[in-house]
Amino acid sequence: MGKRLIMKKILVIDDEPEILKTIKTYLELEEYEVLTAENGQEGLEIFEQQKPTLIITDVKMPGMSGIDVLKKVKKNEGDTEVMVITGHGDLEISIDALRLDASDFISKPVDIEHLLLSVKRAMERHKMRAQLKAYTKDLEGLLDEKASEIKDAHAMLLQSEKLASIGQLAAGVAHEINNPIGFISSNLNTLEQYIKDIKGLMEQYKNFHSINNVERQMLLDRIESLKNEMDFEFILDDLFKLLEETKDGADRVKKIVADLKDFSRMDHGEKNLFNINQGLESTLNIVSNELKYKAEILKEYNEIPVIECYSQELNQVFMNLLTNAAQSIEKQGKIGIKTGLLHDNGHSFVEVRISDTGCGIAEENLSRIFDPFFTTKEVGKGTGLGLNISYKVIEKHKGKITVESEVGKGTTFIVRLPVEH
Ligand SMILES: Nc1ncnc2c1ncn2[C@@H]1O[C@H](COP(=O)(O)OP(=O)(O)OP(=O)(O)O)[C@@H](O)[C@H]1O
Ligand SMILES: [Mg+2]
Repeated sequence: MGKRLIMKKILVIDDEPEILKTIKTYLELEEYEVLTAENGQEGLEIFEQQKPTLIITDVKMPGMSGIDVLKKVKKNEGDTEVMVITGHGDLEISIDALRLDASDFISKPVDIEHLLLSVKRAMERHKMRAQLKAYTKDLEGLLDEKASEIKDAHAMLLQSEKLASIGQLAAGVAHEINNPIGFISSNLNTLEQYIKDIKGLMEQYKNFHSINNVERQMLLDRIESLKNEMDFEFILDDLFKLLEETKDGADRVKKIVADLKDFSRMDHGEKNLFNINQGLESTLNIVSNELKYKAEILKEYNEIPVIECYSQELNQVFMNLLTNAAQSIEKQGKIGIKTGLLHDNGHSFVEVRISDTGCGIAEENLSRIFDPFFTTKEVGKGTGLGLNISYKVIEKHKGKITVESEVGKGTTFIVRLPVEH
């Protein structure tokens, strides 16, 4: 297939047929397709239909002037170039034409050399404009593409943030459930052992009715020594304590699940009047399994007023602090619990200090311990949420939680809660 030459169209508008003819002839020699019109109106009609690349128009014509033609053409969406032919010395009109975005002006009498050069330049200008337009379009396309990429990335970020907060919630729930489940199952093991012992004891009585008095006395002696061996009195006592604790643990799990159910409402639970000393004592019972082998507990409960608070949540804070204290002690140490009433600037606070003789916190970590997921514990042991949750709970009570620590010596967490009236 041969290459089809697309000739560029030039429209020439002039009221003098002689000039029209001359220009047409020269332009055709240069292989342009030339259209002609003898007045502005006719020129505009041809322009509308043919959309030439270039219009060469005389300025001074009866009826519509060349400047009007120029204005109308430039108002059009297209990219047709316009060159004007002005009378000799019409510098002002020429300048106007350039201001109106004419590509060039030529004065009469028309110098053909000059005209052809000007036409060539106009054609180049047209080509450049087309290229620029294409680039702009490319650029716009690229921008659109990038914008939609950014939008996608943003959506992904939101999604991953959502996932992270779901993960955070799940980890938080795991953290809070892990502890009660831990002592529930350890209590159940102990209870199992106790019941085995008691069952063994009961079995001794099986033949009690079919034996004679002497044998009975021997059996009773044996039972008595068995009882001593297993510390029967202690077991009976501890049995009920363990059951109580286990029930308490199960209640907490139940409460957590209930909390989770109405998670959409952040203010779960209601405030109640609560004695912090009692809260510490019951929390201590619950975590005592974790503490008792590690540390001697030194308690100093001073007189404090009841405060209005979310008691369950405060207990969780105490649990987290006590667990951390126990975990900071490698072999054997001390954990101190001290409460008191404090006055500062006309405000009253209940202060709780939980201290340990554990490993302490390195200076560079002090500012990070309240961050979610910050942990120095091995994978699977710490989620790094205990202090973060505690911080939020204390903040909710308009209180403060601070820390003092020395590496190798120990750590003290200080919780201050306002006493409201
Ligand atoms: N009493 C303490 N003594 C020494 N370091 C502590 C003490 N309390 C907290 N830390 C440090 O702060 C970090 C964060 O504590 P946080 O309770 O938030 O998480 P965690 O105990 O690591 O994990 P978990 O989510 O199981 O509580 C701990 O990993 C530890 O490095
Ligand atoms: Mg912790």
